[in-house]
Amino acid sequence: MKKICLAFFVMLAAVSVAAFRPAMAGDDGNIYAKLLGNTFELQIQALEHLVTTDTPYQENAARHAMGIVSTADLLTDTIDKAELTTATMDKARLKKLNDATWTAANDLSNAVKIWLEGQDKKVVIKAIKNLRVTCDNCHGG
Ligand code: HEC
Repeated sequence: MKKICLAFFVMLAAVSVAAFRPAMAGDDGNIYAKLLGNTFELQIQALEHLVTTDTPYQENAARHAMGIVSTADLLTDTIDKAELTTATMDKARLKKLNDATWTAANDLSNAVKIWLEGQDKKVVIKAIKNLRVTCDNCHGG
């Protein structure tokens, strides 16, 4: 009986860990969604680089922010068309979480404009932090 209980709790733990990962149908997951995720990541890193380094490319920051907004649009579209396999995250929930990313990306875009108009870069650093929180909603931190 004890063994059965233990097995049950181990299974329960495994299910709740898996619930945090937004895996899509298919053994390799959704390759296109993965590419979009990597696009997010590289665009954010490029922006972080421009904000924290003295480079002649600072004005590109606005277009990286737009790229992040656009990637959020593409991910919403992909969620619409994909079959999901996670038990706790249905399409509606994934779309809602991605909407939060889209909103944070727009806030970031505004923050970049404010920065390029001569304000402190802190506004951009804060907006990037807020954006990353919305990523963690799907990726479990
Ligand atoms: C609505 C949920 C959702 C949000 C929000 C989200 N992602 Fe993802 N992400 C996914 C899904 C789904 C995949 C594909 C997973 C799979 O098929 O295995 C993915 C994949 C990725 C990958 C690729 C992982 C790999 O195995 O190659 C990265 C990197 C990533 N996301 C980063 C981000 C970043 C950065 C953000 C925020 C700007 C973000 N994601 C926001 C759902 C989300």
